Amino acid sequence: MLQDFDEHRVSRQIVQRRAFTRNNVESYLFSLRTTVETQVNEWNTTSHFACYKELKSLMLKVAISIFLGVQEKDECSRLNEELTCILKSALAIPQWQIPGLPFWRGMKSREFIQKYLASQIENRRNSVGTDLFTQLCIDCNTQEVMLSREAIVDQMIFLIMAAHDTTASLLSSLTMKLAEHQEWQNLVRAELGELRND
Ligand code: HEM
Repeated sequence: MLQDFDEHRVSRQIVQRRAFTRNNVESYLFSLRTTVETQVNEWNTTSHFACYKELKSLMLKVAISIFLGVQEKDECSRLNEELTCILKSALAIPQWQIPGLPFWRGMKSREFIQKYLASQIENRRNSVGTDLFTQLCIDCNTQEVMLSREAIVDQMIFLIMAAHDTTASLLSSLTMKLAEHQEWQNLVRAELGELRND
């Protein structure tokens, strides 16, 4: 996040060329749809529904699936828990490394995620996974410049954070506005209906 000028341009270009090609984005879309449909069907909307909390957890699941290619339930839950602690620590007051405080817990979680990602880079180099992490690790044996191991880990943590909390926030604001304006809901339904018919 704190990169500037050439350093920023070069690393952003590598991420763009490797992870955000048309084919890759199409495969992320497939994974996005599957994760969202499964989760939304499991939502219990008959009792009190904490919209922002549920959307945030869903977006984190999407990020773990698309960005890391992790589907296994226990692994997903553990990653979800650690990433949530990192996010909480970013806004924690005070930002002191005192055992037990949210900031300290977030730093521990960041260490966990850093080790988790770093330990998988070698295996992913020769893998065929379409997830974003694997795409950044794959060694294409070309002259193309690659990110260092540390840079891959940093880019992954940044991307997961940049993508999931912003989108959860957008979706919960959108939900609130749609709930307040029945006529907008009708317009959105009509538009979706037209898209389905296309
Ligand atoms: C509604 C959702 C989103 C909002 C409101 C949002 C907002 C922003 C803003 C304001 C910045 C600029 C921050 C700055 O330069 O100080 C930014 C940067 C960035 N966002 Fe998003 N974002 C959203 C979704 C996403 C998603 C889904 C992804 C990834 C798939 C993403 C990846 C990034 C990246 C990589 C940067 C850094 C760009 C750079 O400096 O090179 N964002 N976002």
